Amino acid sequence: MKQLVREVKITGTGSYLPEKVITNEYLETKIDTNAAWIYENLGIKERRIAAENQATSDLASNAALNAIENAGLVVSDIDLIIVATATPDRLAPSTAAIVQDKIKAYNAVAFDIAAVCSGFLYGMSVASQYIATSVYDNVLVIGADTFSRITDWTRRDAVFFGDGAGAAIFSHGDKDEGFLAFRLYTDGRGKWNYTIPAGGSEIPSTHESVEQGLHFFQMNGREVYNTGTKVLPIAINQVLADTGLTVDDIDYMIPHQPSIKILQKTAEIIKLPWEKVLTNMDKYANTSGGTIPILLDESNRSGKLHRGSTLLFAAVGSGWTYGASILRWS
Ligand SMILES: CC(C)(COP(=O)(O)OP(=O)(O)OC[C@H]1O[C@@H](n2cnc3c(N)ncnc32)[C@H](O)[C@@H]1OP(=O)(O)O)[C@@H](O)C(=O)NCCC(=O)NCCS
Repeated sequence: MKQLVREVKITGTGSYLPEKVITNEYLETKIDTNAAWIYENLGIKERRIAAENQATSDLASNAALNAIENAGLVVSDIDLIIVATATPDRLAPSTAAIVQDKIKAYNAVAFDIAAVCSGFLYGMSVASQYIATSVYDNVLVIGADTFSRITDWTRRDAVFFGDGAGAAIFSHGDKDEGFLAFRLYTDGRGKWNYTIPAGGSEIPSTHESVEQGLHFFQMNGREVYNTGTKVLPIAINQVLADTGLTVDDIDYMIPHQPSIKILQKTAEIIKLPWEKVLTNMDKYANTSGGTIPILLDESNRSGKLHRGSTLLFAAVGSGWTYGASILRWS
């Protein structure tokens, strides 16, 4: 379904990365991997890992306060909090409710979105609907994950992910600024290609499920690569068609950070010069829900974005979930 949202803009951004750094060289001493291989194939040099006493909501709350301040608001201005995460603090209540309490934003309604690596993109779209219809004035969307808690640190696929959170504030915009298009897609036939099998209603946590490591993520890397490089161009070309823009009109692509080769191939297919594709996976790896808002915050604070800059967002994640969006920055 086509979703064309107007006059919704981002008025502030924030992010939070935990202090502890795990380098490729360190992982090399622990598991069957190779530091140079990781950098060359995945674009990752190091990743951040949450402290033992930090849950997803702690990372999310820090990013949220950062974004609220950047927008020139106070917590009581926030009407709605959306947390996109695949590593919630608990199965119930939502991480968004826990964040609401931690930052004391008691005027806000709060709920989570489960779309894994596409979670922030889905969250941006939901926030935009509420702003476009004037139901809410200030929506806080947070992408936050602690994949270190669902990683088997004895396996070589432990190299892919890191912990982190990013956030953005969505408010009313003026004509000729803000979001120009969203396209979201889901294909549940991909449900085994990236999954955390146990801990839900299908396979509740038991001694057996833990012994079998079913509480850790499982990923079919080849399928992720094949699907990512197929669906990202589809979503991107669709939002370009929706807006009547061409790839030459895009100033920067702010994509999810799955691994460098997926992004390089996508840029090649859509014919977007690689210099326009922003990445930070070398420092943080794949923070799942956190990737896009962390990168957006870094780009915003470094002065890269200017009034009128045309930004392309795109993400693919477990589900499959995927999509793209175009924003005219102001
Ligand atoms: C991970 C990926 C590089 C593996 O390549 P592949 O061809 O699909 O899988 P294979 O298991 O056959 O591995 C290919 C080679 O990489 C090596 N390799 C795979 N994982 C490795 C790791 N973690 N460390 C070091 N080497 C690794 C293998 O040893 C193999 O080497 P060989 O050719 O000398 O035998 C590729 O599937 C990929 O980039 N997938 C995208 C995954 C992703 O982005 N996930 C995050 C989002 S959910």
